[in-house]
Amino acid sequence: MVFWLNKAKKKIKIVGLPKKMGLQEFLHMNEGDGEISYSQNSFVQKAASLMGQPMLERAIQSVITEVKSPSKVIKVADLGCGVGPVPLAVVKLVIENVQKKCEELKWKDNDIPEIIVFLNDLPSNDFSFLFKELLNMDLLKKKEGVPLCYLMTTPGSYYGRLFPKNVLHFVHANYTLHWLSQAPSELYSEEGIPINKGNVYITESSPKIVAKAYMSQFQQDFTKFLICRSEEVYSNGRMLLTLRGRPTSSDAVTWQPWELEIMAQAITKLVSQGLIKEEKLDTFDFPYFGPNEDDIESIVHKEGSFVIENVNTMAQHVAHEIEDNSERAKVVSKFVRSFTESLISRHFGEDVLEPLYEKFTQFTCEHLAKGKPIEHHSVIILLKKI
Ligand SMILES: C[S@@+](CC[C@H](N)C(=O)[O-])C[C@H]1O[C@@H](n2cnc3c(N)ncnc32)[C@H](O)[C@@H]1O
Repeated sequence: MVFWLNKAKKKIKIVGLPKKMGLQEFLHMNEGDGEISYSQNSFVQKAASLMGQPMLERAIQSVITEVKSPSKVIKVADLGCGVGPVPLAVVKLVIENVQKKCEELKWKDNDIPEIIVFLNDLPSNDFSFLFKELLNMDLLKKKEGVPLCYLMTTPGSYYGRLFPKNVLHFVHANYTLHWLSQAPSELYSEEGIPINKGNVYITESSPKIVAKAYMSQFQQDFTKFLICRSEEVYSNGRMLLTLRGRPTSSDAVTWQPWELEIMAQAITKLVSQGLIKEEKLDTFDFPYFGPNEDDIESIVHKEGSFVIENVNTMAQHVAHEIEDNSERAKVVSKFVRSFTESLISRHFGEDVLEPLYEKFTQFTCEHLAKGKPIEHHSVIILLKKI
């Protein structure tokens, strides 16, 4: 509720929902390297990044000769870098591939470019743990023939500008651009009443406007992302983006990821047990959208600063090597907890964490017992700046 003074100095009352805190003020993956940390449980994100590795290697090697930049410094940004194995692998692959290309070109000593890797994430990311791990890397020590690599942090949201104009050769963003800047405001009526009650995302029973609102939020956010990067990336520079999307032929109006279906089930159960208030469930909207290749391609074409060099959708079954359903459910639950806990505790409070993820594990086990899949689709897209 806000009060304004009009010209006649009379108070006018504007009624509405209190402004929700922006995602960027609190979202973070679980810190450190403990049992439920993101770094110990991001095996799905790591597998997705491995699928894009050949594209990353080619892109790094291409920008060395194709980008005409004023200095001999290769500048790379890992956006939404988080912590754990993926940003470590990115730094390693960048150094190795610059070195490989220099060897192929027979460049020596002063010809070998230096590298800067900018590690970006929201300010609440565990940058100190990330740097502890990175600075142990052998490749960062000065050695003959190995390009010198400098690491820098760039905290902030990639839905705004992060760098000056024309500075980046290569941008990498793994498993991050499906996070929206915020849940869509159209999920509430003008009076502030939630229209997707009982759900946390698009479901088959949601009003049609729900899927439309999510899709439109993704279009706005992804367009903003492309506009900002189009200023920052050199002509002929590359961007490799891997998103947790949906299968190519699926419909955004009915598709929902398995973990949000189970999450809604677990929260509903705690509502029935009196541990969570119903209105808390009704006002929880997961700030995620699962695009497919067509959604992404059409936004890239419309924005117009990049051409698509490659696009692919790949599927992986999560923790499928574990045969026992209850063991697999525990591993899957820790994986989901490591990236959802900050959101859940901010909205529902810390007290619900243990019972909620216990229920999540139980329902995951039941889901598996019914023979339902636990599958992730990753859309991998390589873009070249015009
Ligand atoms: C699932 S993690 C992926 C981390 C890492 N790239 C990986 O593949 O393991 C998503 C990351 O994106 C970050 N993120 C979400 N929205 C962001 C934004 N608007 N700007 C910068 N980072 C963001 C989150 O804080 C989180 O660290």
